[in-house]
Amino acid sequence: QTCILIGAPMDCGKRRRGCLMGPDAYRTAGLAEALAALGHKVVDRGNLAPAPHEADDPAAHPHRLNECIGWTQALMAEAGRAMDQGMPVFLGGDHAISLGSVAGVAAHAARAGRPQFVLWLDAHADFHTVATTESGNLHGTPLAYVTGQPGFPGFPALPAPIPQENICILGLRSVDGAERDALQASHVARHDMREIDETGIARPLQAFLDRVTAAGGALHVSLDVDFLDPSVAPAVGTTVPGGATVREGHLVCEMLHDSGLVTSMDLVELNPFLDERGRTAQLMVDLCASAMGRRVFDRPTRAFG
Ligand code: ARG
Ligand code: MN
Ligand code: MN
Ligand code: MN
Repeated sequence: QTCILIGAPMDCGKRRRGCLMGPDAYRTAGLAEALAALGHKVVDRGNLAPAPHEADDPAAHPHRLNECIGWTQALMAEAGRAMDQGMPVFLGGDHAISLGSVAGVAAHAARAGRPQFVLWLDAHADFHTVATTESGNLHGTPLAYVTGQPGFPGFPALPAPIPQENICILGLRSVDGAERDALQASHVARHDMREIDETGIARPLQAFLDRVTAAGGALHVSLDVDFLDPSVAPAVGTTVPGGATVREGHLVCEMLHDSGLVTSMDLVELNPFLDERGRTAQLMVDLCASAMGRRVFDRPTRAFG
């Protein structure tokens, strides 16, 4: 495979600063070297910048809307270009990068006549609209945008809204009231930590992967650092206790590689300013390596089913 690393030092999707250092932390933790060691060709495109946009009033609600729109435009365009050359890995940046990365890969899939699917690994649903967000933090909105909900004034029109049934969220344990109502009325597949505790993480994941396979879909994976438990991944501004273990994280990523379905990926919400000696950046790199084929033994086994 050709892996295209795309830095997106986007920090406007929330108030706490630091995610702009994410792309360089992944580079420092050896992401390119880890993927190359697996036999992939790695192209590092460096860092993107937002499209020109009007200045934001720092006190406005939502927070830094125009800058987020500028990033969305830039990321959408870059996603389409990168999909033609290999497998894009978007290095965030906060989760607002997915407004553009997911919209862009979905547009590309639509041009290729393939249905787009999205696996969202996150403590949060990120299913607010600009109208429902209480915090005003746009990193809490990408799944509503890419599924084509109304309420995103000023954002690029979506060339290819993703059907709700093509989305699966794994790891939920912090969902706001408006998101909960919208999710429960939706066809988004959603699995909270209670379900993961009861059934194991492999079961809901394999059920989703089987649906992607049956549809011949393209699969985008969006990995938020806060999917993981804060005890193993402290470098994120929105920690929620009770998250995925290192072992669950690797199992998910290994199953993703075995499926052969992944066509693009985001690594988001890493805030290196909050890290401890790089351990969170290193874990994210190791998880990405598992998703790209790193194995203990050269013998892919079907973990479940
Ligand atoms: N639901 C909360 C909000 O809208 C938290 C969102 C957290 N999202 C994230 N990408 N970390 O503010
Ligand atoms: Mn193309
Ligand atoms: Mn998120
Ligand atoms: Mn989150």
